[in-house]
Amino acid sequence: MMASMDELRAGVRRSLPEVELITDTDLGDKVVEAWALCLSQSEFTSIDEIIGAGGPDTSPLRGGTQTDHIRGVTRMALGLVDQLAEVVGDSGIDRDLLIACALCHDVGKPFEFSHANQKRWRDNPGASGYPAIRHSVYGVHICLTVGLPEAVAHTAGAHSREGDFIMRSLENTVVNYADHAFWAILERAGRLEPLADGRVVT
Ligand SMILES: [Fe+2]
Repeated sequence: MMASMDELRAGVRRSLPEVELITDTDLGDKVVEAWALCLSQSEFTSIDEIIGAGGPDTSPLRGGTQTDHIRGVTRMALGLVDQLAEVVGDSGIDRDLLIACALCHDVGKPFEFSHANQKRWRDNPGASGYPAIRHSVYGVHICLTVGLPEAVAHTAGAHSREGDFIMRSLENTVVNYADHAFWAILERAGRLEPLADGRVVT
């Protein structure tokens, strides 16, 4: 059954309680709107329904979902800047913006991970490309559509390999390291499921 936008928004707030850490309520509302919009364009009705993996072909988190990834990266990003500040002082990072960037870095995943899109693209990659649009690029579209700041769209689009071709912002640099650390730590801790061929791929 189709979920209404209000149901999707309420679900995003339940999945991502870290939205409440953003003091600028307009910015927090736009983070919720971004996820609700992307979910509405997929068959998913909750971030919890999306497999907890970095990509459609990488090893998922054992006993976790995409929600755990988004929450983990957001808290790890805050941990990085907070703990560093204890030693070297404030790095001048905009805390609200950092939280919004971290919460939205994978906002395009409902589109890229959609089973319907995956089937369509795999059936005829010559027509669509595979994937037609990665979650990073689709995330830029979503962020700008809901009126999120350019800095959040930049992190969605360049937290990933796309960012290797440009210079990342301060917030995006933190999110990029937190994102990679999330997968690297959990892989080494044996917390990722092997793929069907037995390999663990991050
Ligand atoms: Fe991520």
